[in-house]
Amino acid sequence: MNLMNIRPRRNRKNSAIRDMVQESNLGVEHLIYPFFLKDGSNIKEEIPSLPNVYRWSVDTLLPEIEQCLRFGIKTFVLFPAVEESLKDKTASMSYDPNNFYLKAIELIKTTFPEAVLMSDVALDPYSSDGHDGLVEDGKIVNDKTLPILAKMSLAQAEAGIDIIGPSDMMDGRVGFIREALDKKGYTDTSIMSYTAKYASSFYGPFRDALKSAPKDGDKKTYQMNPANKNEALIEASLDIDEGADMLMVKPALCYLDVIHLLKENYPIPITAYNVSGEYAMVHAASKNGWLDYNAAVSEMLLSMRRAGADGILTYFAKDFAQMIRN
Ligand code: PBG
Repeated sequence: MNLMNIRPRRNRKNSAIRDMVQESNLGVEHLIYPFFLKDGSNIKEEIPSLPNVYRWSVDTLLPEIEQCLRFGIKTFVLFPAVEESLKDKTASMSYDPNNFYLKAIELIKTTFPEAVLMSDVALDPYSSDGHDGLVEDGKIVNDKTLPILAKMSLAQAEAGIDIIGPSDMMDGRVGFIREALDKKGYTDTSIMSYTAKYASSFYGPFRDALKSAPKDGDKKTYQMNPANKNEALIEASLDIDEGADMLMVKPALCYLDVIHLLKENYPIPITAYNVSGEYAMVHAASKNGWLDYNAAVSEMLLSMRRAGADGILTYFAKDFAQMIRN
């Protein structure tokens, strides 16, 4: 048999043909851009392990959001950076109506009603233990965490959040939150569940940004073992049954197979969370001249789309938006 009559290179011979047969695409409409929020005013604070990412006070963040909207980025995730002195065992600040984070959601939504805002729901930014759930006798207790997550979600819904993002990995939380929201009439508030969230070493810079690292132990009793993917199927089917509107896989780069697996098996949208450590790696290598930043970023994000991600939550969003404008 002469296989030389089949030459795949013919479909690569010029850029017009390459573009015509391109299978995946990536646009700014797929991207979700994260921000770290701090109480106060006139703040734009650098985070050494996350170059070009800042902790903002809401007054300085508003013009930044306006610029992103002009670039075509429409969806944003907000994470609160909380003073250590305000943290407690039960993360009570998370549902205090005077919480700067809730006020910021309200202000951003009234200023830019067209922006889609997503939250993070977990105890860690507000917890004196630095865990996503309630800690009792050194254990992260599941069922007593659920009402706290529900209160936090309700407070965010009241403030006007569009999408609730439970990132805590407690069992049953999506259903518990959905029921609490529906009971209070927030039937339009969406839930994007962090479905397959792995106990990963790539969250380090994020924990620097929020100073939220666990005070004791690790997160392996609730976040997933990086060795597993069947477990992702179990988590996904539970989340869908419990009422999740969208699923998330986190981190993205080491877990492209998991993104693909969920995409093949479930009809609802899948988001990839391109986490802080993945961002920091590209920056560090580019700074040394070892990688071409723009090319590496585009390839990384496109690969997540190829794997099956509908949306991509990424610190690269603004750079990518600027890149495709030029
Ligand atoms: C906390 C949370 C984490 C991230 C998002 N939400 C950290 C963690 O689980 O310890 C990490 C995101 C990133 O690294 O960019 N619930």
